[in-house]
Amino acid sequence: MNTQIVNINLSHCNYGIFINEKLFDFSAVAHLLNNRKIAIISNETVAPLYLEPLTQSLQEYNATVQSLILKDGEQYKNQTSWNLILDFLADNNFNRSDLLISLGGGVICDMTGFAAASWMRGIDFIQVPTSLLAQVDASVGGKTGINHSKGKNLIGAFHQPLAVIINASTLKTLPEREFKSGLGETLKYGFINQPRFKQWLQEHSKAIVGLNLPLICQLIAKCCKYKKEIVQQDEKESGIRALLNLGHTFAHAIETYTHYKEYTHGEAVAIGMVMAAQLSVNLGVANDNLRKELEKHLQDFNLLTKLPKTINATKLVELMRLDKKVVNSSHRLILLKSIGNAFIQNNVCEKDILQTILSCQH
Ligand SMILES: NC(=O)c1ccc[n+]([C@@H]2O[C@H](COP(=O)([O-])OP(=O)(O)OC[C@H]3O[C@@H](n4cnc5c(N)ncnc54)[C@H](O)[C@@H]3O)[C@@H](O)[C@H]2O)c1
Repeated sequence: MNTQIVNINLSHCNYGIFINEKLFDFSAVAHLLNNRKIAIISNETVAPLYLEPLTQSLQEYNATVQSLILKDGEQYKNQTSWNLILDFLADNNFNRSDLLISLGGGVICDMTGFAAASWMRGIDFIQVPTSLLAQVDASVGGKTGINHSKGKNLIGAFHQPLAVIINASTLKTLPEREFKSGLGETLKYGFINQPRFKQWLQEHSKAIVGLNLPLICQLIAKCCKYKKEIVQQDEKESGIRALLNLGHTFAHAIETYTHYKEYTHGEAVAIGMVMAAQLSVNLGVANDNLRKELEKHLQDFNLLTKLPKTINATKLVELMRLDKKVVNSSHRLILLKSIGNAFIQNNVCEKDILQTILSCQH
């Protein structure tokens, strides 16, 4: 079985993303595991499915393995769960030579990474993402964090993993709704700067939805490569990396407004990308058809493209003010000139944002 490898090369570290269909293949990173003390951080949904096979695979390396199981859900990506991880590390005498492994979706990857960034000012961690969204995006690039009650991902750090081990066969147990959410994030790369990839996705949509694993491995490798190209140029998001936030400022406000209960992250991002397209049209930087075109791609994967009118648009704009992309109280958003051509727009005024949200409600 072929393992696809995407190497991330940064000025201060290099690491590999290893993608295949085998459950859980650490052969490429054996040297990082030998005789190590390891804490696996997972949640109550993923652990019953994969904790045992993961622990088994680590036995080969003479590792001492302990685990912590957290509650499942974006609403638990908070200071309480982060503290539980730190308490666990303290109670079990974890120190700088020890290792954390995340086992779960983006929520677990982000929280484990942040605990690794903060414990003793930084310890090693390996990402083992099990949702499509985490495999194509959240586990790659070193952004770690938790939510604050005032907004999403407001607390965090940049901390790169030692490796990312992606086993596409975990997707067999991923609920269909979560799989679709992940597809929304893959489409994002096509909309930002990879128009040919968007076409590739369209051509292979049936096989992807049918969970053809060799093809899914290709899909994941392509996305990791696209993300790597951006992260290598701008690790700490002082410029081009912000393009990866297409639709996210809208999405974070939608998620906060609905208390992380009504939309998955990927669903909110899909709606947010439609809003970004509509705003681009309203501001005259894109052709009138852009929103329809983008909606069509999302609908091919049965993703939502509109918000219900019951959501208060004015309140969403207020929540957007808390996003990290607001600079000196003017909104900095990622817009599109066309599909595959995203750019950063500063000084977007709230009147235009409000009008856009209202026209994306039904
Ligand atoms: N750090 C980054 O660069 C980055 C990028 C994108 C998204 N994110 C973050 O990622 C999070 C969203 O990630 P997500 O969509 O994976 O959400 P998630 O972690 O909540 O996972 C979705 C659901 O699927 C379950 N699950 C995961 N893998 C499974 C499997 N193999 N089988 C059965 N169930 C499984 C989870 O337990 C959860 O219930 C958000 O918090 C977002 O902010 C971070």
